[in-house]
Amino acid sequence: MRMESLKILFSAEDIDRRVQSIADQLNTAYAGKQVAMLCVLTGAFMFFSDLLKYVKFFPQIDFVRIASYGSGTTSCGKAELLQAPRIPLAGKDVVVVEDIIDSGTSMAFLVEYLRAQNVKSLRIAALIDKIERREHSVTVDYSGFRLLSGFVVGYGLDYDERYRELPALYTVEFEDQA
Ligand code: IMP
Ligand code: MG
Repeated sequence: MRMESLKILFSAEDIDRRVQSIADQLNTAYAGKQVAMLCVLTGAFMFFSDLLKYVKFFPQIDFVRIASYGSGTTSCGKAELLQAPRIPLAGKDVVVVEDIIDSGTSMAFLVEYLRAQNVKSLRIAALIDKIERREHSVTVDYSGFRLLSGFVVGYGLDYDERYRELPALYTVEFEDQA
């Protein structure tokens, strides 16, 4: 049987400090603007809701879902939009909120889709910018943490749909057990 063990990477307090700092930057950049904030499901749900509690510019909010194909801990370079935004985005300042950018496949795909909606501007906030496996160049405008490598769970991020509920971030170590 495959078992995972978790090692703490960033505490809930560490995360809250970074979330507040990103919110401060957004509050400065977007005061008085017509902003749409898009949460990329499922992984960004906790980051999104915590971030929103600190923003002061009354954004419209919506949710998108992307499938990027692959299994286990890798994606294989193809992406598809499973849930499109329902609010009109043309002419708006759009902020995409994502859990983690790894290969960049999902985000590069979403950026192309959103640009085609004639948004006024587009910026990306990612809780984690994981740089080692980047295959598609993506500009992360606001990032919580930069990581070289490793598989991370908690605070919205999953392994096989588990661990999303944890309030801190952990790295997963995979161990084979008899
Ligand atoms: P990308 O398309 O390779 O950039 O992968 C992005 C998606 O893969 C993220 O939105 C996550 O859902 C998932 N992912 C990538 N790395 C991790 C990780 O370390 N932990 C949990 N999910 C991950
Ligand atoms: Mg995701």
